[in-house]
Amino acid sequence: MSGRHGRTWTSPLRVRRAPAWERQAPTWREARPALIAGALERAAARPSGNWYVVGASREVGARERPYGRTVAGTEVVVWRAGDGSLRAGPGVCPHLGAPLRDSRVVCGTLLCHWHGLALDGGPRAGWEPYPVHDDGVLVWVRLDAAGGGPALERPVVPVRPGAGGAVDAVFTAVGRCEPEDVVANRLDPWHGSWFHPYAFVGLKVVGTPDDDGDDGFAVEVSFKVAGRLVVPVRAVFTAPEPRTVVMHITDGEGAGSVVETHATPLTARGAAEPVSYTHLARAAAPVLRPLMRRTAGRLWRDDLAYAERRWSLRSSGRFPG
Ligand code: FES
Ligand SMILES: [Fe+2]
Repeated sequence: MSGRHGRTWTSPLRVRRAPAWERQAPTWREARPALIAGALERAAARPSGNWYVVGASREVGARERPYGRTVAGTEVVVWRAGDGSLRAGPGVCPHLGAPLRDSRVVCGTLLCHWHGLALDGGPRAGWEPYPVHDDGVLVWVRLDAAGGGPALERPVVPVRPGAGGAVDAVFTAVGRCEPEDVVANRLDPWHGSWFHPYAFVGLKVVGTPDDDGDDGFAVEVSFKVAGRLVVPVRAVFTAPEPRTVVMHITDGEGAGSVVETHATPLTARGAAEPVSYTHLARAAAPVLRPLMRRTAGRLWRDDLAYAERRWSLRSSGRFPG
């Protein structure tokens, strides 16, 4: 078939003759706990600037309803001002404590539904706004008291492919674990085709932080499309900040696609649960889009089960290694 540019068009799809699930090569020898723990430690040491993902920009988009969530033990309310920009602050009304998430936004002003106190987003007695950032897909709030580290002007937002034509799928779930368990799961790429055989086949880790120096895990893997049809890609996993892991597809069809995982603690530090778990997938290649949507729910639920299991073992002193 001749392509738009006169070149021969090659389908990104391949027919894969994969071995049966039980016959694939075991990965546990390479998936050394110390290697994963080291990557996790380095991620934890990176600055977050005290920024936390609170939700998808779309969810915070409704003009009349504020968006509320407890993050790291702090009740937060977010809403849009008249010009569409975001306002954020404590979710507790400074008068008698009404939950501001249930209040109303009128012409960009948050109006408490108990006695009508008006908040325009600026500071007032008993209510100091929080810095808030809309990166186009996700909304972040900066909580300096909860974060406890040096503040950054902006969150560490992963580099994403341009939005033009790309599809963003945001999946959020809540589980019982700490953010580090979510990050540890994503820094173990070896479980891919064993634990998610419905999505991946033939996953091979071809680069680890030990040998490439840039602190990423590189994998070669085929995404299952339908039947024996697959899309082979190469991807790199990195943790740019303590609660984020990014998978960039670097080669093959879909190069430039990205899957981000953000773990947001809902309870205060040490309380150990629950955590909110947000995945964002931006598929640059049309062939990957339905795939990313279809498998995402199951994939993320299984990964959350992994993270919860890790936390349950850690918190009871039963984690191996
Ligand atoms: S509690 Fe909000 S105005 Fe009274
Ligand atoms: Fe996984």
